Amino acid sequence: MSDKDQGVSRRQFLNYTLMGVGGFLVAGTVAPMLRFAIDPLLQVGQEKDMVAVGDISEFGSEPTRREFQLRVNDGWTEYDVDQTAWISVNEDGEVLALSPICTHLGCAVMWEGNENEPNRYFCPCHNGLYERDGVNVPGTPPTRPLDTYEYEVGDDGKLYLGQPVQRGGV
Ligand code: FES
Repeated sequence: MSDKDQGVSRRQFLNYTLMGVGGFLVAGTVAPMLRFAIDPLLQVGQEKDMVAVGDISEFGSEPTRREFQLRVNDGWTEYDVDQTAWISVNEDGEVLALSPICTHLGCAVMWEGNENEPNRYFCPCHNGLYERDGVNVPGTPPTRPLDTYEYEVGDDGKLYLGQPVQRGGV
Protein backbone atom coordinates (compact mmCIF):
# COMPACT_ATOMS: atom_id res chain seq x y z
CA MET A 1 0.00 0.00 0.00
CA SER A 2 1.46 3.43 -0.94
CA ASP A 3 1.48 6.62 1.23
CA LYS A 4 -1.23 8.17 -0.96
CA ASP A 5 -3.59 5.27 -0.38
CA GLN A 6 -3.57 5.94 3.34
CA GLY A 7 -5.38 9.35 3.60
CA VAL A 8 -2.54 10.79 5.72
CA SER A 9 1.00 10.33 4.51
CA ARG A 10 3.77 9.19 6.79
CA ARG A 11 5.36 12.64 6.51
CA GLN A 12 2.11 14.38 7.49
CA PHE A 13 1.61 12.03 10.40
CA LEU A 14 5.09 12.79 11.68
CA ASN A 15 4.54 16.55 11.27
CA TYR A 16 1.24 16.44 13.16
CA THR A 17 2.75 14.34 15.92
CA LEU A 18 5.76 16.62 16.33
CA MET A 19 3.58 19.75 16.32
CA GLY A 20 1.28 18.23 18.92
CA VAL A 21 4.09 17.16 21.21
CA GLY A 22 5.92 20.46 20.72
CA GLY A 23 2.80 22.48 21.45
CA PHE A 24 2.11 20.43 24.56
CA LEU A 25 5.66 20.98 25.84
CA VAL A 26 5.58 24.74 25.16
CA ALA A 27 2.16 25.13 26.81
CA GLY A 28 3.30 23.10 29.80
CA THR A 29 6.33 25.37 30.23
CA VAL A 30 4.81 28.77 29.49
CA ALA A 31 1.49 28.43 31.32
CA PRO A 32 2.99 28.07 34.82
CA MET A 33 5.32 31.01 34.15
CA LEU A 34 2.42 33.20 33.02
CA ARG A 35 0.38 32.16 36.00
CA PHE A 36 3.29 32.98 38.33
CA ALA A 37 3.68 36.43 36.75
CA ILE A 38 0.01 37.40 36.62
CA ASP A 39 -1.58 35.70 39.59
CA PRO A 40 -0.36 38.18 42.24
CA LEU A 41 -1.90 41.04 40.27
CA LEU A 42 -5.28 39.33 40.36
CA GLN A 43 -5.05 39.12 44.13
CA VAL A 44 -4.13 42.76 44.86
CA GLY A 45 -6.63 44.40 47.15
CA GLN A 46 -8.02 41.16 48.48
CA GLU A 47 -6.36 41.80 51.81
CA LYS A 48 -8.39 44.40 53.59
CA ASP A 49 -7.47 43.81 57.17
CA MET A 50 -8.90 46.20 59.72
CA VAL A 51 -6.59 47.30 62.53
CA ALA A 52 -7.62 48.01 66.12
CA VAL A 53 -6.66 51.56 67.09
CA GLY A 54 -8.12 51.62 70.60
CA ASP A 55 -11.28 51.21 72.61
CA ILE A 56 -14.20 53.19 71.17
CA SER A 57 -14.70 54.81 74.59
CA GLU A 58 -11.32 56.54 74.19
CA PHE A 59 -12.73 58.78 71.45
CA GLY A 60 -15.13 61.71 71.75
CA SER A 61 -16.21 64.78 69.84
CA GLU A 62 -12.73 66.32 70.03
CA PRO A 63 -10.52 64.90 67.23
CA THR A 64 -7.79 62.65 68.59
CA ARG A 65 -4.64 61.78 66.67
CA ARG A 66 -3.87 58.06 66.48
CA GLU A 67 -1.02 56.26 64.70
CA PHE A 68 -1.28 52.67 63.44
CA GLN A 69 0.06 50.36 60.75
CA LEU A 70 -1.86 48.85 57.85
CA ARG A 71 -0.78 45.64 56.17
CA VAL A 72 -0.45 46.14 52.41
CA ASN A 73 -0.22 43.44 49.76
CA ASP A 74 1.07 44.81 46.45
CA GLY A 75 0.76 41.46 44.71
CA TRP A 76 4.32 40.27 45.26
CA THR A 77 5.14 41.29 48.82
CA GLU A 78 3.39 42.23 52.05
CA TYR A 79 4.55 45.05 54.25
CA ASP A 80 3.29 47.46 56.92
CA VAL A 81 2.61 51.10 56.12
CA ASP A 82 2.50 53.76 58.85
CA GLN A 83 -0.83 55.56 59.01
CA THR A 84 -2.25 58.40 61.06
CA ALA A 85 -5.90 59.23 61.65
CA TRP A 86 -7.74 62.09 63.33
CA ILE A 87 -10.62 60.30 65.03
CA SER A 88 -13.81 61.74 66.50
CA VAL A 89 -17.20 60.32 67.47
CA ASN A 90 -20.37 62.41 67.30
CA GLU A 91 -23.35 62.26 69.69
CA ASP A 92 -25.03 59.64 67.47
CA GLY A 93 -22.03 57.36 67.85
CA GLU A 94 -20.87 57.89 64.27
CA VAL A 95 -17.13 57.64 63.86
CA LEU A 96 -15.16 60.02 61.66
CA ALA A 97 -11.58 58.90 61.04
CA LEU A 98 -9.82 61.41 58.81
CA SER A 99 -6.60 60.99 56.92
CA PRO A 100 -4.18 63.81 57.81
CA ILE A 101 -2.85 64.02 54.25
CA CYS A 102 -3.75 67.38 52.74
CA THR A 103 -5.58 66.93 49.45
CA HIS A 104 -3.73 69.91 47.95
CA LEU A 105 -0.13 68.64 47.78
CA GLY A 106 0.08 66.06 50.53
CA CYS A 107 1.40 67.85 53.63
CA ALA A 108 0.14 66.75 57.06
CA VAL A 109 -2.77 68.68 58.52
CA MET A 110 -3.19 69.35 62.26
CA TRP A 111 -6.37 69.80 64.25
CA GLU A 112 -6.36 73.43 65.41
CA GLY A 113 -2.86 73.76 64.00
CA ASN A 114 -3.31 77.52 63.64
CA GLU A 115 -4.40 79.54 66.67
CA ASN A 116 -6.28 81.95 64.38
CA GLU A 117 -8.39 79.07 63.00
CA PRO A 118 -9.98 77.29 65.96
CA ASN A 119 -12.15 74.23 65.31
CA ARG A 120 -10.52 73.58 61.97
CA TYR A 121 -7.78 71.44 60.50
CA PHE A 122 -4.85 73.50 59.28
CA CYS A 123 -2.25 72.68 56.67
CA PRO A 124 0.93 74.74 57.24
CA CYS A 125 2.34 74.32 53.73
CA HIS A 126 -0.03 76.71 51.93
CA ASN A 127 -2.48 77.66 54.69
CA GLY A 128 -5.05 75.05 53.69
CA LEU A 129 -8.12 74.75 55.93
CA TYR A 130 -10.69 72.03 56.58
CA GLU A 131 -13.80 72.06 58.75
CA ARG A 132 -14.23 69.65 61.66
CA ASP A 133 -15.88 67.11 59.32
CA GLY A 134 -12.85 67.23 57.02
CA VAL A 135 -14.54 69.26 54.29
CA ASN A 136 -12.17 71.73 52.67
CA VAL A 137 -12.82 75.43 53.27
CA PRO A 138 -13.55 77.21 49.95
CA GLY A 139 -11.00 79.84 49.04
CA THR A 140 -8.08 77.84 50.48
CA PRO A 141 -5.83 75.66 48.30
CA PRO A 142 -7.39 72.19 48.90
CA THR A 143 -10.14 71.38 46.40
CA ARG A 144 -11.62 68.32 48.06
CA PRO A 145 -12.23 66.96 51.58
CA LEU A 146 -9.79 64.89 53.57
CA ASP A 147 -10.03 61.14 52.92
CA THR A 148 -11.81 59.02 55.53
CA TYR A 149 -10.77 55.60 56.80
CA GLU A 150 -13.16 52.67 56.59
CA TYR A 151 -14.11 51.72 60.13
CA GLU A 152 -16.06 49.26 62.21
CA VAL A 153 -16.67 48.88 65.92
CA GLY A 154 -16.05 45.31 66.97
CA ASP A 155 -18.00 43.21 69.47
CA ASP A 156 -14.96 43.66 71.70
CA GLY A 157 -15.69 47.42 71.88
CA LYS A 158 -12.60 48.31 69.87
CA LEU A 159 -12.48 50.67 66.91
CA TYR A 160 -11.00 49.11 63.78
CA LEU A 161 -9.74 51.16 60.83
CA GLY A 162 -9.14 50.00 57.27
CA GLN A 163 -8.13 51.64 54.03
CA PRO A 164 -8.52 55.40 53.43
CA VAL A 165 -11.33 56.26 51.03
CA GLN A 166 -11.41 59.35 48.84
CA ARG A 167 -14.40 61.70 49.08
CA GLY A 168 -15.78 64.00 46.41
CA GLY A 169 -14.71 67.61 45.93
CA VAL A 170 -16.57 70.79 46.90
S1 FES B 1 -0.25 71.00 50.80
FE1 FES B 1 -1.81 71.57 52.17
S2 FES B 1 -2.42 73.51 51.46
FE2 FES B 1 -0.92 72.90 50.06
